[in-house]
Amino acid sequence: MSDKYVVIGNPIAHSKSPAIHSQFAAQTRQRLEYQTLLAPTDGFELSVHNFIVAGGKGANVTVPFKEQAFTLCTELSDDARLAGAVNTLSFLPDGQIRGDNTDGQGLVADLLSHTSLKHKVVLLIGAGGAARGAILPLLRSGVKQLIISNRTFEKAQTLAKQFKDYGNISAVPMAELESGFDIIINSTSASLAGDLPGVPVHIFSPDTLCYDMMYGAELTAFNAWAKSHGVVNCIDGLGMLVGQAAISFEIWRGVKPDVDIVLSQLRQALE
Ligand code: ATR
Repeated sequence: MSDKYVVIGNPIAHSKSPAIHSQFAAQTRQRLEYQTLLAPTDGFELSVHNFIVAGGKGANVTVPFKEQAFTLCTELSDDARLAGAVNTLSFLPDGQIRGDNTDGQGLVADLLSHTSLKHKVVLLIGAGGAARGAILPLLRSGVKQLIISNRTFEKAQTLAKQFKDYGNISAVPMAELESGFDIIINSTSASLAGDLPGVPVHIFSPDTLCYDMMYGAELTAFNAWAKSHGVVNCIDGLGMLVGQAAISFEIWRGVKPDVDIVLSQLRQALE
């Protein structure tokens, strides 16, 4: 019998995770089933419990359940503990539930496929869940300085304080941002509301690499804006999506799948 995995969320029908993990399984000759699981907004814990009873081995967790998944775990990785959120659950044979957060590592892996992070000055825009998950992997990757900026400045300050023992991190109000960033990462959900995050445009230069955690068929709104202010290299978050899935797969199955093949197939399907 194949081992069973799911991605749990609400909504979940359009998730790309089943396609990604099925391709990873085919590549690495692993026998597994991977499906979507729609949990009611007030029924996450019960859905997980039922899946474990049905023999489930692991689950990815997406919006809006990553914080609830965190509280369910009996063991946590450092990334998950500091992010306060879990996107990868492993149901262990002894009944323990292990939680990991692979989003930030997926981001870093994708960034590293484009550039080195060592000694770089990085601006992270946003201070929500997506930003929180990215901070520890970014600091660990050897960046020289990580600046956090957010519409609500206090949230950026709180994050900078929380992670101060892990590297050179500070918070700067959006209006006070200057130029000189090697890499600018947009982790905000501003574009979901058709907005831009409100950073001053002098932060952009032709040497800056811009990374938007959002993705789509077209250039994302943030990347299009950065381009219109001189940025040449813009990357969207599709590689982060495949990257986080690859790390989850490796946690569950002990083998590393090839990200590039799956990423180029997904990219083609988007076009
Ligand atoms: P996620 O888990 O995707 O990070 P979140 O925790 O709701 O979602 O955080 C959303 C982030 O996008 C926050 O940093 C938010 O800024 P605030 O903390 O000020 O709310 C940011 N954001 C959302 N809409 C925005 C907008 N229109 N302009 C600027 N920032 C925005």
